[in-house]
Amino acid sequence: MDGDCAWREAVVYQIYPRSFNDSDSDGIGDLRGIVERVDYLAALGVDVVWLTPVYDSPQVDNGYDIRDYRSIHDAYGTMADWTALRDALHERDIHLVMDLAVNHTSDEHEWFCRSRRGDEAYRDYYVWEPGEPDEPPNNWESLFGGSAWTYDETRAAWYLHLFDERMPDLNWRTPAVRDDVSELMNWWLERGIDGFRLDVINLLSKPAGLPDGDPAASITGAGHFVDGPRIHEYVRELRDRVFAADDVMTVGETFDVTPAEARRYVVEDGLDMVFPFEHMDIDAGGSGPWDIADWELADLKAVTERWQTAVGDGWIGLYLSNHDQPRLVSRFGDEAYRTESATMLATYLFTLRGTPFVYQGQELGMTNPRFESIDEYRDPATVLRVERAVQTGDIDAFAEIRDAVNYWSRDNARTPMQWSDAEHTGFTDGTPWIKVNANYPEVNVERESASEDSVLSYYRRLIDVRAAHPVLVHGRYEPIAPDDPNVFAYRRLADDADEQVLVALNFTDGRRDLLEIDGERQRSSRTETGGASMAAFGALEREDAELLLRNYGPTASDEPGSVALRPYEARIYRLATE
Ligand code: NOJ
Repeated sequence: MDGDCAWREAVVYQIYPRSFNDSDSDGIGDLRGIVERVDYLAALGVDVVWLTPVYDSPQVDNGYDIRDYRSIHDAYGTMADWTALRDALHERDIHLVMDLAVNHTSDEHEWFCRSRRGDEAYRDYYVWEPGEPDEPPNNWESLFGGSAWTYDETRAAWYLHLFDERMPDLNWRTPAVRDDVSELMNWWLERGIDGFRLDVINLLSKPAGLPDGDPAASITGAGHFVDGPRIHEYVRELRDRVFAADDVMTVGETFDVTPAEARRYVVEDGLDMVFPFEHMDIDAGGSGPWDIADWELADLKAVTERWQTAVGDGWIGLYLSNHDQPRLVSRFGDEAYRTESATMLATYLFTLRGTPFVYQGQELGMTNPRFESIDEYRDPATVLRVERAVQTGDIDAFAEIRDAVNYWSRDNARTPMQWSDAEHTGFTDGTPWIKVNANYPEVNVERESASEDSVLSYYRRLIDVRAAHPVLVHGRYEPIAPDDPNVFAYRRLADDADEQVLVALNFTDGRRDLLEIDGERQRSSRTETGGASMAAFGALEREDAELLLRNYGPTASDEPGSVALRPYEARIYRLATE
């Protein structure tokens, strides 16, 4: 794409290769399997594919534990298969963004093997601390639960791992680490990729002295290692040595980032965009990783408004699901209104300021499966946490927390893509590595492609509407009726006031009339003196608004100009400008 801000206009599709499509019947998705499906991606209308890690890896964390940055994991295929995928995407004008984890490597990476042996050149490649085997250097917690430190007998020292113990953290203070990372990133650019999704990029910098963290924090130590002291210097160094050279798309995964920091990563450090995390917490309770809080629309409105305004001239990746999160319909929508709520949430995603990311299966309205026993889970973060809860006596058995684990587990997103009603969803002829969602006979690509009323067809229309109305990408965000507990409505306004769009989303399973929401304020808006944004609803009534998209087809009961929203109805209007 040309121009500094061109990535802003893109729609990104995330592929989790392990679960996308299996070409060789071993039950694990692979690169050739993706090649078989590139026409599907082209028909959907996406501009970029983000491929989660396909590098050589022992697969402790499904590829985020990288053993060799320059080769491909056996089960996914070969470098020739990867090249075929790159070419197949490029032939269809789809860009390829590789996922890169450089906060840590696998403990089987050559750097770690040499560092652990004390090899002079690699001694300081990881965060090692001397000490007694029974006393970790500080109280930091791993994001997968438990201590972030493991004692290594070979080196007779502790090493830091913010994730699994088989994923040691690189030491970014060591210049040779930064040299090696820049080099390997440039190596991939030379092979024709279009950018990077940078895994937990804001965790790279750990403060000198490794001070204890606040034990009351949700993750002890996060206050020290999230956006650590030298982080902006490291990202700028990567920009100068890697991204500046080309029109490379960079999206930073920025754990627990604030809007002010997000702006810095983009405006000052040169990333194209970062992922916020705050909206992924509105349903998180305060007591432990499985706690579920009742969330209200007011919470989502508040977080949305903050991230739509406080990032200023920065830029964010918009998402409601990915390979680490539960399925959005089960979480923020309503399985009883699967199609309606999936399309309503999609409308929300595609009409905000930012670049929308669609996670595989989201465009079908896939939902969380139901896992009955702990043996059905494959995600190490889920399994480790449950095992630890049993060991520490917090619970006696998995059954006690089954519902909460079913709600939160990352495996919710990792069941195979649902291609058809054939056995195993058409994903594989073998035995899938993880169970399939039982609803695949109803929710699948084949069936949804054949219906204009499906979630999939709606995504295609939504992608077209966004492309045709740049105000949906770049326009200013202005909430309407912010206190209404049921309807989420906002305008997007072009700077030159040339175009404005109104979005109205019913987040409930009841009917909501736009002209009756928000009591007093709405009544006053219907007079000539009403506020500009509230008057937008009046414009709908006067019918000087063009309906661009709606997730319900018109029916006989629709009155002309009716603005009564049905359950989970979503509408996008283009408003007349003076
Ligand atoms: C974030 C990735 O999205 C997640 O899947 C992974 O477990 C951690 N980073 C560690 O790489």
